[in-house]
Amino acid sequence: MTTAAPNTGLEDVVVSTSEICFIDGDRGRLLYRGYDIHDLVAHSTFEEAVYLLWHGRLPTRPELERFRKDLTTQRRLPPKVLALLEGFPRKADAMDVVRTAVSAMGLYDPDAADNSREANLRRAVRIQAQVATLVAAWARIRKGKPPVAPNARLGLAANFLYMLSGKKPSDLAAKAMDTALILHADHELNASTFAARVTVATLSDIYSGIVSGVGALKGPLHGGANVGVIRMLLEIGEVDRAEAWIKSALAQKKRIMGFGHRVYNTEDPRATHLRKMSEALGREAGDLRWYETSRIVERVVKEQKGLNPNVDFYSASTYYSMGIDPDLYTPIFVVSRVSGWIAHVLEQQANNRLIRPRAEYTGPQQVSWVPLDQR
Ligand SMILES: CC(C)(COP(=O)(O)OP(=O)(O)OC[C@H]1O[C@@H](n2cnc3c(N)ncnc32)[C@H](O)[C@@H]1OP(=O)(O)O)[C@@H](O)C(=O)NCCC(=O)NCCS
Repeated sequence: MTTAAPNTGLEDVVVSTSEICFIDGDRGRLLYRGYDIHDLVAHSTFEEAVYLLWHGRLPTRPELERFRKDLTTQRRLPPKVLALLEGFPRKADAMDVVRTAVSAMGLYDPDAADNSREANLRRAVRIQAQVATLVAAWARIRKGKPPVAPNARLGLAANFLYMLSGKKPSDLAAKAMDTALILHADHELNASTFAARVTVATLSDIYSGIVSGVGALKGPLHGGANVGVIRMLLEIGEVDRAEAWIKSALAQKKRIMGFGHRVYNTEDPRATHLRKMSEALGREAGDLRWYETSRIVERVVKEQKGLNPNVDFYSASTYYSMGIDPDLYTPIFVVSRVSGWIAHVLEQQANNRLIRPRAEYTGPQQVSWVPLDQR
């Protein structure tokens, strides 16, 4: 039995091989199936990136058209899941709603107990398409507004923004959302992806795997960090307060959300794109306050702690400039990352072995039993 150093959170421990995602933490490179995310952002769409993640290669034109059509026709939620959303407490945490509703989606899946790869690919399309509808529907239902039916003429990202607001998004906003979805799609064995793989490795079903992923992503050290970032920016409030605010937070040894990363020792390549989008959308909205505040926070944290922004830092001001409610930022992460979870679930199922590590026992041994009335 090999023993990892205690309490290192499996840092740098390689538990599996995978052909899906490559991260070079020293050089700030991120590849999906060998393709650099910079190329995917420049030339691809989210749908094409999802096909790549699931099938291991770029689609031909007819394959992509077919895939897009499948994703578009599967957007509607099962009516009973929609009814369930209507009954949830309006103040419920949006990630709790997503977790519960994804679980419920599994109850209405027409492939029932078929656990073949073909059935799982059909499920994958349904889950990918419906999660966006689910997040947008909840965003409206909790405000007493009726959900907006999906628009089949729009791609996944633009349609998601359309279902949130009921208005067709600007080209810039649609492109920014598509880019954000590409950038969040996969990131090797992060906590939520590992959770999803562990779950399906018991031969449990794909919905259970995705529900595990959602639960793990919710935490503030993982997908919940983007909400922490916008809370911080709103608390800072004005550009000229940023420097003093962040210096004081660092002096109090506070953990600054959106900075630091387990794997990157340099700039997270996803932050490079999100920084640009944050500026462009701030400009389009006529309010650069959040972008400029972020720039100051970034400079001070780099100077004082040597930490770089991660994917969550600029996604916060990007989404805020689009008028999206802060508590939806982590659910939007799900809309994208569900594609990566599915790719990993399919890979796990294709060559499965139960994932069952050991713990080094450090508790007492052979303690004598003490009867109840003598304790
Ligand atoms: C992502 C994260 C969990 C990685 O953590 P990790 O590799 O386990 O690193 P640790 O938590 O052990 O931190 C190592 C040191 O850096 C500091 N540090 C790491 N991230 C920090 C942050 N965001 N703000 C302030 N200090 C930070 C820690 O305080 C610690 O300092 P110490 O050794 O003086 O105690 C961590 O950087 C973090 O909490 N970031 C904020 C949350 C976030 O943005 N998450 C999204 C990740 S994509």
